[in-house]
Amino acid sequence: MKKPLLCPQELLTLNLTGKTYIVTGGNSGIGLVTVEQLAQQGATVVLACRRPSEGEKASLKIRAKNPKAQIQVAQLDLADLQSVRRFVEHFLSTHSLLHGLVNNAGVMNTPFGRTRDGFETQFGTNHLGHYLLTELLIPILEKSAPARIVNLSSCFHDRAMGREGRIDFEDLHFEKRKYDGWTAYAQSKLANLLHAKHLAKQLAHRGITAVSVHPGWVRTQLIRSSMPVWIQNILLRPLFRLGGMLEPWEGAQTTLYTLLAPEVASHSGAYFSQIGIYRSREAAQGGWPLQSPNPNAHDEACAERLNEVSRQLVQR
Ligand SMILES: NC(=O)c1ccc[n+]([C@@H]2O[C@H](COP(=O)([O-])OP(=O)(O)OC[C@H]3O[C@@H](n4cnc5c(N)ncnc54)[C@H](OP(=O)(O)O)[C@@H]3O)[C@@H](O)[C@H]2O)c1
Repeated sequence: MKKPLLCPQELLTLNLTGKTYIVTGGNSGIGLVTVEQLAQQGATVVLACRRPSEGEKASLKIRAKNPKAQIQVAQLDLADLQSVRRFVEHFLSTHSLLHGLVNNAGVMNTPFGRTRDGFETQFGTNHLGHYLLTELLIPILEKSAPARIVNLSSCFHDRAMGREGRIDFEDLHFEKRKYDGWTAYAQSKLANLLHAKHLAKQLAHRGITAVSVHPGWVRTQLIRSSMPVWIQNILLRPLFRLGGMLEPWEGAQTTLYTLLAPEVASHSGAYFSQIGIYRSREAAQGGWPLQSPNPNAHDEACAERLNEVSRQLVQR
């Protein structure tokens, strides 16, 4: 198995007292490790999740190990734009600074469905919910600069089970074409990457660095729409590990690196990848940063158009 890229230890011992971060989907998987690590380093972390009871359970577990952990659980359903607006309203009424926004939450290969606002579930949750969240938080990020935005994309923005990542502007929500869960996931993850690229342009010289990451193939709950999680975690775990599946702490390394490494500020808009499954062997080694092998990830006009369309859809 290829060795995963690891965040240098000195970054994981930096003192983050006085810093504030938001991690979406912080109750599970990669997000949970990210919350735990940032809190371990002294940061205040808002654990944003759609099920606050699960967030509280996660927070209790972290505090059992580290009683000083500053974790605040807040409700956020990315599949409901009203919930996104409520979350931001509450955050802004209780905080005056935000140094890092981790757009981590996500769903993968779900059956066809729609968000509360009528968007296809994966595009709506993974991209549009985070798009609005980010837009509403840019002023406080700018005020707190230097600040960072990290979008969790995926190597599946390139190809997801054989489906090439592309944005179908004629049918973003699968109203004309037949729905396919992997095609929709690839589209949403390419959108996460292009969103970060656009943000980097928009925020150049405003003290905010925006990047996208692939965390690796990680043993989390994400698989649940494709197979029962216990099959991944018990039956297939040794086989999957040999095939390159990482543990959640390994999966959080790219996010932590992009949040904490000083040199990332000179790569705003870039894509940082853990080892992964790509169309090219070179890309499979990962890279911090990595040139995506998908030509659609380098299409500036597409990133611009996606921004315009997203802005209209979320009515900003
Ligand atoms: N695991 C991998 O192999 C892998 C590979 C590439 C990219 N990624 C990306 O990494 C990110 C983290 O995923 P993970 O692997 O840690 O999966 P996970 O364990 O399933 O965590 C996903 C998180 O997103 C939350 N979420 C889902 N829908 C939401 C919504 N509507 N509103 C708010 N939160 C919502 C989940 O909440 P609930 O607990 O309530 O469901 C959960 O907290 C995702 O963006 C994923 O696409 C993962």
